[in-house]
Amino acid sequence: MAKILVTGGAGYIGSHTTVELISKGYTVLIADNLSNSSADVVDSIEKITGVRPLFEQIDLSDKTQATQLFDRHPDIVAVINFAAYKAVGESVSEPLKYYNNNLSIVFNVLSNMERLGIKNFVQSSSCTVYGEPDTLPISEQSPLKPAVSPYGNTKKIVEEILADCAKQDKVHAIALRYFNPIGAHPSGLIGELPRGVPNNLMPFITQTAIGIRQQLSVFGNDYDTPDGTCIRDFIHVVDLAKSHVVAVERLLNGKGKAAFEVFNIGTGNGFSVMEVIKSFEKMSGVKLNYRIAGRREGDIVKIWADTTLSNKELGWKAQQTLDDMTRDAWNWELKLKERK
Ligand code: UD1
Repeated sequence: MAKILVTGGAGYIGSHTTVELISKGYTVLIADNLSNSSADVVDSIEKITGVRPLFEQIDLSDKTQATQLFDRHPDIVAVINFAAYKAVGESVSEPLKYYNNNLSIVFNVLSNMERLGIKNFVQSSSCTVYGEPDTLPISEQSPLKPAVSPYGNTKKIVEEILADCAKQDKVHAIALRYFNPIGAHPSGLIGELPRGVPNNLMPFITQTAIGIRQQLSVFGNDYDTPDGTCIRDFIHVVDLAKSHVVAVERLLNGKGKAAFEVFNIGTGNGFSVMEVIKSFEKMSGVKLNYRIAGRREGDIVKIWADTTLSNKELGWKAQQTLDDMTRDAWNWELKLKERK
């Protein structure tokens, strides 16, 4: 079956996408420098699917390594790009590290694709490109706002690079703008493994519940929302992973309506931080230790996706509920503890 290069395939979303691709019969080549992941993930993917993905530990921001990778695998037919630094706060303090890494990877991959005549490229993008929405739900037509962080800016810039390359028919690309992926594979074998103190809500919740963190801070309960806490479109990572399979198949089958397309990938429903906590407590049976803290700087008040376009054009729809997400996130945290 066709060989797909998954950059950052040992990471959170990359590993779940690899599982879905393998289960559809694709040959997956993971390229990952393991800067924020571990080689064990490859074993876990094999355990889940019964198939071991090809794996190369290389740094795609290095031009030579990228070129050699493509030379070793001239039969790659599509690339799904997850390889990027993603800590928003760190990107503010270390902007060059983020611009350098996240953009070099894209330059190196696209240059090699052009050299070898490989056209199909799926990019991991983010709803962060919308900033604070003027209207909800937010559709792909909504204007993009200046990025609040260098991390967010790299997502925007990569979309612009893809649009320019697509105009010259150098690439056929799809950018998937994710909302807030949470949860884990139901096997509990792969999931989100943040290094150090988690920045994001769900891993902070599960780590608090299991005793790694003492207390969750809820960043603000005085927002203009029904319960005062921020609202996000949380999406199960397995649903998100499946959207990559349909996106890459759209490219492989030449079904795209334009050489560069963007799609929102969310559920279309907004849930508040407090609703996530309540769902977690219900599904885990654990009473969470949390307190209301001050607002976190730069937080968007509320955002959820208009998924009309992805539902219609990709024929994809998120299936899993918030309870599924919190249940699977907890299962992953429990299994992680068992393995230690
Ligand atoms: C963040 C990133 C976004 C990225 C996404 C990945 C920013 C501005 N955006 O989104 O670019 O794609 O992560 O999942 O950082 N919260 C708490 N306590 C916590 C942690 C979070 O109350 O300990 C609240 C936040 O204030 C927010 C909500 O939970 O209201 C979600 O936060 P988070 O999981 O960090 O995601 P985003 O900020 O939406």
